Amino acid sequence: MASHQPAVDDEFIVAHTRDCSLRDGTRIRLRPVAADDKERLQAGFERLSPDSRYRRFLAPTGVLTERMLRYFTEIDYDDHFAWAALSLDEPGEPGIAVARYVRDRPGSDVAEPAVAVIDDYQGRGLGSLLLRLLTASAVANGVKRFRATLMRDNRPMYNLFAEAGGTFVTETAGLLRAEVELPTCELARAELLDSLLRHSCDGAADAARRVLTGVD
Ligand SMILES: CC(C)(COP(=O)(O)OP(=O)(O)OC[C@H]1O[C@@H](n2cnc3c(N)ncnc32)[C@H](O)[C@@H]1OP(=O)(O)O)[C@@H](O)C(=O)NCCC(=O)NCCS
Repeated sequence: MASHQPAVDDEFIVAHTRDCSLRDGTRIRLRPVAADDKERLQAGFERLSPDSRYRRFLAPTGVLTERMLRYFTEIDYDDHFAWAALSLDEPGEPGIAVARYVRDRPGSDVAEPAVAVIDDYQGRGLGSLLLRLLTASAVANGVKRFRATLMRDNRPMYNLFAEAGGTFVTETAGLLRAEVELPTCELARAELLDSLLRHSCDGAADAARRVLTGVD
């Protein structure tokens, strides 16, 4: 799907940036992906194991091409939205995870979500936090349903969708299709706030309000 140049400026990124701690104390920064994140995204991709890359892209993926990097970073925050997590405990604040949704066509209320957490940071609650954040942004933008294909044996992602109330059907022998009816604005706000508070997210209530209303 085509994505447009951002209709937002740095102010949007700054207003939506929040610092948090994962449950093991790792300090992270959460913010929308920006057009100049290409190097950071490439570096993060290189830290994903071949198995994680396969689970994310459902195909062997050795490199991110220039075209893919543009597609993944030059987004309009409406038909295509992406959140990045950066490690504040590593020099240069590298990217450690991304969660994005892309509508199945412009303006549609169905979107495909995808989350990738680099292997060193998996199993610490980051995927769960990012999926909630992504859900809140999707709800704020009028998305009503997430639809995703995942590998049948992808237990962490299955758990994340199941926790969000997802249902699953078999697509092919090795693949499942997950459908998640997104919550109302009020419920998404409450769930996001709860998740941000559990991650000691700085200014959690304010962050939840901004994500769900876009109001400063
Ligand atoms: C799927 C993924 C995003 C989950 O992120 P994460 O930060 O590791 O997930 P969390 O720590 O928030 O845990 C999510 C759930 O999976 C469970 N889980 C975590 N690691 C697990 C493991 N190795 N085996 C089984 N379950 C696991 C957790 O217990 C949690 O379930 P719960 O909420 O019922 O307790 C991450 O593993 C990843 O990037 N995988 C590779 C790419 C991918 O598969 N993307 C999905 C494409 S749709």
